[in-house]
Amino acid sequence: SAIIGMDFTLSEEHRAVKEAARDFARTELLPGVIERDTVQKFDPVLIKKMGEMGFMGMMVSPEYGGGGMDTLSYVIAMEEISSVDASAGVIMSVNNSLVCWGLEYFGTAFQKQNYLTDLATGKKIGAFCLSEPEAGSDATSQHTSALEMKDHYLLNGTKNWITNGSSSGICLVIAQTHPEKQHRGINVFIVEKGWEGFVVGKKEDKMGIRASDTHTLMFTDVKVPKENRIGEDGFGFKFAMGTLNGGRIGIAAQALGIAAGAFERSLHYARERKTFGKPISEHQAIQFKLSDMATRIEAARLLVYKAARLKDQGKDYVKAAAMAKLYASDVAMWVTTEAVQIHGGYGYVKEYHVERMMRDAKITQIYEGTSEIQKLVIARELLK
Ligand code: CAA
Ligand code: FAD
Repeated sequence: SAIIGMDFTLSEEHRAVKEAARDFARTELLPGVIERDTVQKFDPVLIKKMGEMGFMGMMVSPEYGGGGMDTLSYVIAMEEISSVDASAGVIMSVNNSLVCWGLEYFGTAFQKQNYLTDLATGKKIGAFCLSEPEAGSDATSQHTSALEMKDHYLLNGTKNWITNGSSSGICLVIAQTHPEKQHRGINVFIVEKGWEGFVVGKKEDKMGIRASDTHTLMFTDVKVPKENRIGEDGFGFKFAMGTLNGGRIGIAAQALGIAAGAFERSLHYARERKTFGKPISEHQAIQFKLSDMATRIEAARLLVYKAARLKDQGKDYVKAAAMAKLYASDVAMWVTTEAVQIHGGYGYVKEYHVERMMRDAKITQIYEGTSEIQKLVIARELLK
C-alpha cells in the first residue's frame, strides 16, 4: 500500500517456494508428525531431505551451497513447514536465521569455507547458544567465560535450553571475555561438537515442539582457536542481538504457520461435523470463530511479510520484527485454542492434530525473546 510502500502480491518465485514447501510438508512431514511428537525425536533422514530441498540454508549465497533467496521466501517456507510440523519449523529457523545468516553476514572467509556450506546444505545442523540458567531474558549477564590465551580461548560454563543441542554439529557460543566491559566484553565463537571438554547434558521433556531436541550444554576448559571468534573482540552481544532480530521474523513465521495449520483443520472439520441436524459451520457461533481466526491470521501475515520485506530492502527492521513476533505468537496461541474448541472432544486427542498445535504455539511467546521482551524492544524503538 501507499502507507508502507509495499506490495504483497507474491512473485512467481515466491509462489513456487510456497508450493514446494507446502508439498514437502504434506508428503514428507505430515505422515510421522504425531509419532515424532510422542517419541520426542526428529528423523535425521527428514533433515537430510530438507537440506536437499534447500530449506536449511535458504538465504545463504549459492557460493556456500545456499538458495540465495530473500527473507520473504524464507518466511513463506517457514509458514508452510510449521503449519504441519512446528518442530521441523524451529530446527529450520535456528539453522537459517541464527546460525547461517550470522555466519555469512559476520563471519570471515575461513569461517564460511569451513562451516557454512555444511550448514546451508543440511549436512550438519547448527545451534545458537546464548541462554544460561541465569541469563535468559537478561541476556547480557553471561556467566560462561572465554579466557583469552596465546592462540586460543578457554571456554567454561553452562548453556541451557539449546535447540538442536544434541543433533547439532556446529554451535555458536556466546561467552564473556571482559566482565568489566559488561555486554561490550562478550564474544561469540564457533565451537565444534566433539571438542574436548564439550559435553551435551540432559534433554528437556517439553510441553510442545517435542520432536525438536532441547539440551543443556556444558563446557569445561574447551580450547577454541582464535580464528573461530566471529567479529572483533567484544562483538558477541551485538552479534547475538543482530541475528535475533532476523530470528524473530523466523519465529513469527513459525507462529503464523501453526495458526494457519490449525485454522485449515478447523475450517475442514466445521464443514464435516454435524450437530443438531447441520454442519457446525452453519452455527453462527462457529462461523464467528472462523471469521476472527482468519482475520487475525491475515493481520499476522502482513506483519511478518512487512518485517521480511524491510530486511530485504536493507531498512531498519528491529521494531517490525519484534511486532511481528509479539503479534503472531499471540495469534498462534489464540487460534489454536479456538481450533481445539471447534473440534470439541476430538480436539483434545492427538489424532486430530490441533491439541499438538496448541502445545506447540505456546513456545512462540517464550523463545527468541519473550512477549514481554518484545514489548520492551518495541517501546525502546518508539521512544528513542
Ligand atoms: N537489535 C540491535 N541491538 C540491540 C537490540 C536489538 N534488538 N536490543 C538491544 N541491543 C543493543 C543495545 O542497543 C545495546 O547496545 P550498546 O552496546 O550500544 O549499548 C546493547 O544491545 C545492550 O542493550 P541494553 O542496554 O538495552 O541492555 P538490556 O540488558 O537493558 O536489554 C535485551 C537487553 C533487549 C533485554 C536483551 O538482553 C534481549 O534481547 N533479551 C532476550 C534474549 C533472547 O532473545 N534470547 C533468545 C535466545 S535464542 C532462542 O531462544 C532460540 C530459540 O529458541 C529457537
Ligand atoms: P526469564 O528471563 O527468567 O523470564 C521469566 C518471566 O519474566 C518471563 O515472563 C519474562 O518475559 C519476564 N521478564 C523477564 N525480564 C523482564 C523484564 N525486564 N520486564 C518484563 N518482564 C520480564 N535459548 C538459546 O540461547 N538458544 C536456543 O536454541 C534456545 N531454544 C529454546 C527452546 C525452548 C524449547 C525453550 C523453552 C527455550 C529456548 N531458549 C533458547 C531459551 C529462551 O530464549 C529463554 O527461555 C527465554 O529467552 C526466556 O528466558 P528465561 O527462560 O530465563 O525466562
